[in-house]
Amino acid sequence: MKKSVYIKTFGCQMNKSDSKRLEESFAAYGGSVISDESDADVVIYNTCSVREHAENKALSHIGRLKFLKDKKPSIKICVVGCMAQRMGEEIKKRLPHVDVVAGPSLMFELPGILYDGAGSGVFTDDPENRDYKEFFPGVIAGESEFARYVPIMRGCDNFCSYCIVPYVRGREKYRKKEDIIAECRVLGGKGIKEITLLGQAVNSHPEFKEILKEAAVVKRLKRVRFLTSYPGKMDRETIDIVRENETLCNMFHIPLQSGSDKILKKMKRRYTLSKYLDSALYIRATIPFASISTDFIVGFPGETESDFEKTIDAVKKIKFDQSYTFKYSSRPGTKAAGYEETVTEEEKQDRLKKLNEMCNAASLERNRLFEGREETVFSDGENSGRTGENKIVHFKGSRAAAGEEVRVRIEKALPHSLKGERIN
Ligand code: 5AD
Ligand code: SF4
Repeated sequence: MKKSVYIKTFGCQMNKSDSKRLEESFAAYGGSVISDESDADVVIYNTCSVREHAENKALSHIGRLKFLKDKKPSIKICVVGCMAQRMGEEIKKRLPHVDVVAGPSLMFELPGILYDGAGSGVFTDDPENRDYKEFFPGVIAGESEFARYVPIMRGCDNFCSYCIVPYVRGREKYRKKEDIIAECRVLGGKGIKEITLLGQAVNSHPEFKEILKEAAVVKRLKRVRFLTSYPGKMDRETIDIVRENETLCNMFHIPLQSGSDKILKKMKRRYTLSKYLDSALYIRATIPFASISTDFIVGFPGETESDFEKTIDAVKKIKFDQSYTFKYSSRPGTKAAGYEETVTEEEKQDRLKKLNEMCNAASLERNRLFEGREETVFSDGENSGRTGENKIVHFKGSRAAAGEEVRVRIEKALPHSLKGERIN
């Protein structure tokens, strides 16, 4: 039986990548992916646990699916990913219209469960003893696709005190370099031009630098990105490799989290601001147009006004091209869940607002460097696309197909995008 499948994805790039692979695994069974959930035979929510807000949002969406189930009892409602792993049975208890709950590693069994198996149940495993099986069906679904994610490792060993990831995604597991490069070659051969190498701490892979160098020379791949770099393991050699290889995009996502060494220590981040600055300023000095993006958490337990000022100072010094800012959210089972919350909701809100203002000003300043320059933009099929530095560019002029390389003269910088005119 051919099924139509709807997938909604919350959370990070790893989840987006997993959803894509899940789509392909259904395609391999003859299923098709649709964009309207009310027409679907299978509705899948791929969820995130990183903040309470993300979980509540997913739970309320899934709650509303009850009316679909009432209307069409044969529909299969599936909750997969990190929240599925964290809450397990509790999801089915709270939302009885859910058929399948499956964690981030067992979600790839979903087509089997629905087509050949029980059709319902809770499928979570022990993240401590999880094998690494990277699922790559190798089917290319969309004609207009030109960019893909390639996971190179899964899980995380860092155990930052605020973070749920090691508990839901388990210990670090590394994919073999040969398999990674083989996948890159398949993608290049199928017309993919841009890949993003993925991992919660992508530079923890023992062969990370070799992978970068080998991926950079895969035929037909024009852009290779990588996410997320753990600051403690960022080094000059990696930055040099990026500078020396045209295909490797001049972009670094390195979450700083806080500018205060006291807070970094309490977060169990294994680096200091000065170690971070060493990498960031080396990037600025050797690849001036490279983008540096980051994540910040405000209101971590014990964060004083003076700690927060240190975060603001770090933004002033580094001038991040892009910052993702979050209010601290206590996660059950993490070390920090045992810390007394000392920052009120109002203070968190206030700090978030101040930080966002500072980050927006920094982003604008960085984007202004691009005014008057000519950049190559990979079109997303509309009159916009991205530069190698991952800057979003809106351009005037004739339309371009998805993946087409468009030369654009940048006329105006905004905090989160650039505007320009197509010149080819
Ligand atoms: N509360 C708030 N933000 C968090 N992040 C991770 N855990 C938490 C938490 N408990 C943020 C970090 C991380 C990003 C993916 O989410 O900044 O880099
Ligand atoms: Fe969310 Fe982290 Fe899971 Fe990604 S790995 S979906 S950010 S909890």
